[in-house]
Amino acid sequence: MGDAVEVLVCVTCKREGMDPDAPRPGAELAAALAGRLPEGVTLRQTECLSNCKRGCTIALRAPGAWTYVYGDLAPEQAETVIEGAAKFRDAPAGLVPWRERPEHFRKHCIARIPPLEALE
Ligand code: FES
Repeated sequence: MGDAVEVLVCVTCKREGMDPDAPRPGAELAAALAGRLPEGVTLRQTECLSNCKRGCTIALRAPGAWTYVYGDLAPEQAETVIEGAAKFRDAPAGLVPWRERPEHFRKHCIARIPPLEALE
């Protein structure tokens, strides 16, 4: 899929009961990913992905590929995101066989959305 894969990380999620002045978990996850994503994968920080009760939340997307939204991630799970992003990049249309996905991705997929091109 070339260089067009994006990992969107919601940096506005709060944890229940957290100190409002503490760093947001998604911002910590984004910081842990910065400079570490596989070649061809770009990090984008974003605001709410409408999965607030199950953050940290990320989305993987690319032209011609299915978009996947994953939740329940901890800031310490950068490796999971890196592994999943590399497999997504390398899979035709982003369709990584279920058994090859990181375990967290298998259990915490919030949504998947077909490629725009498939609807034309
Ligand atoms: S604030 Fe992160 S998904 Fe809503």
